[in-house]
Amino acid sequence: MHDLQAVHAFVEKHRRRRQSNKVLHGHPSPVHWLEKDVPMRDVLQAREQANRAIRKQVNLYVGTPYCLPTDPDRCGFCLFPSEIYTGHRQLDEYLGYLEREGDMFRDHFAGTELASIYFGGGTSNLYKADQYPRLMDVVRGVFEIPPHIEVTLEGIPQTFTHDKLLGMKQSGMNRISMGVQQLDDELIKASGRKQTSEQVYRTLESCDALGLPASVDLIFGWPNQTLEAMVRDLEAMAATGITHITHYELNVAGRTDFFSKSERRTPHDGRQPGDVPRGQSGPRVVWLHAGDTIRLRAERRRAREYVSV
Ligand SMILES: C[S@@+](CC[C@H](N)C(=O)[O-])C[C@H]1O[C@@H](n2cnc3c(N)ncnc32)[C@H](O)[C@@H]1O
Ligand code: SF4
Repeated sequence: MHDLQAVHAFVEKHRRRRQSNKVLHGHPSPVHWLEKDVPMRDVLQAREQANRAIRKQVNLYVGTPYCLPTDPDRCGFCLFPSEIYTGHRQLDEYLGYLEREGDMFRDHFAGTELASIYFGGGTSNLYKADQYPRLMDVVRGVFEIPPHIEVTLEGIPQTFTHDKLLGMKQSGMNRISMGVQQLDDELIKASGRKQTSEQVYRTLESCDALGLPASVDLIFGWPNQTLEAMVRDLEAMAATGITHITHYELNVAGRTDFFSKSERRTPHDGRQPGDVPRGQSGPRVVWLHAGDTIRLRAERRRAREYVSV
């Protein structure tokens, strides 16, 4: 094998060589491999030794897979795996499984430093106020939680209450992320979600009163959404003083209700984007025109002033 000096000399010599494609099959490229028989055990040992010297940091994600049933059974746009929430016993049982999983992974993560914790889903704010300390204890059972790291819990507007937010804060969670998607109470109905803008504002007020920084998710390109509605939502959320907005472009795909509706009404069947087929059952779903999408992109540039996408 080359000694270290030779490797440095090689890298230095070739550093400025023009490359058309930086994706290599191995590093360095196989054309520079000289020795044919490198014992794999030595390579793995050297790698393990080098890994031990590296400070390991983990961004931990703890999922809760349950969601309130909507009509149809899950939010019309959602591509995430989820199970239907049936009641608190389900969550108690799930916490028990998380605790057992923590026991299984404790040794594996010994000495690993946590950089952040995110409780997502599904819907992580279905727990009762007194279950959040138990959720945090699952993590504490495996990791030392350094002070000042970001600990976020994500949820939906209608199941945040002041008591729950207090329970979250007291358990050590220090940031809330809320899936708002749309502030317009009529537009949100297209997804089957039962939430109101009033619940969004009430949650943000509670976060503010408790000193919990909050972030919201919004989706643009939504059925029947106009540019004005999109900008209105962005401005309304920015005006509340929240710390962050994540602005997603609607992805219509997979086995979602939105996708099955869009398939029925694509231009292949002779309809124009924006038309609603007669007799369509369920929520009225109208997709934006292609021109609107282009204008939406332009609007996004404007929105960047206060949005991270
Ligand atoms: C894990 S998901 C859902 C979180 C939470 N259960 C909720 O419903 O608000 C996180 C975010 O992804 C975004 N998202 C989910 N499906 C999407 C889609 N099809 N297109 C664009 N954004 C999507 C939504 O903004 C959502 O808040
Ligand atoms: S959008 Fe959120 S609440 Fe709705 S089904 Fe997906 S994960 Fe569950």
